[in-house]
Amino acid sequence: MDRKKVVSMFTAIIMLIAAIAVAENHAHKSIVSGANPLIEEMMILDGVFREVVSAVAVGNGERVHKALHSMHGTMEKTHEGVHHGTVKIPKNAHRVKEFVKMDKQFHHNLELLAHAAEENDTKRMTTLTQKLLAACVSCHKTFR
Ligand code: HEC
Repeated sequence: MDRKKVVSMFTAIIMLIAAIAVAENHAHKSIVSGANPLIEEMMILDGVFREVVSAVAVGNGERVHKALHSMHGTMEKTHEGVHHGTVKIPKNAHRVKEFVKMDKQFHHNLELLAHAAEENDTKRMTTLTQKLLAACVSCHKTFR
């Protein structure tokens, strides 16, 4: 291959990488800065929970704790949104008190999980993760 061809091939690869980076950044921003804080919370939660399941599966409390740390502040924004009408609960929206209670309970269990993870208490980590999964399913059944 001559030098020109190599150079143009490299240029093409670099441009492709740049295009992917821009596209990813754009997609990320449109999710994270979305007008609906509930969707935003769910997108963050979805990523965090996958990491939690994986870390609990191998009994790694440090990874669990690190993942949960990135959740801070998202619930507060959701509750603010519930009160200011920026959060639209898709189903049974009139049962908003129940929704907030479920969300609070959920986040309380997340806190307990963070403590268990800090102590690397694998038994409690497992029980709480199972509880949390049941709560995802239960809330979605009623409100999603
Ligand atoms: C207190 C209620 C509640 C809990 C707990 C909850 N969710 Fe949600 N979630 C919702 C609602 C409501 C929606 C629908 C939002 C919308 O479409 O406006 C939703 C949407 C989602 C979505 C968007 C996907 C889609 O197709 O609509 C994902 C992903 C998600 N939740 C993941 C999770 C995971 C994972 C957990 C548990 C670790 C969880 N959620 C716990 C209420 C909850």
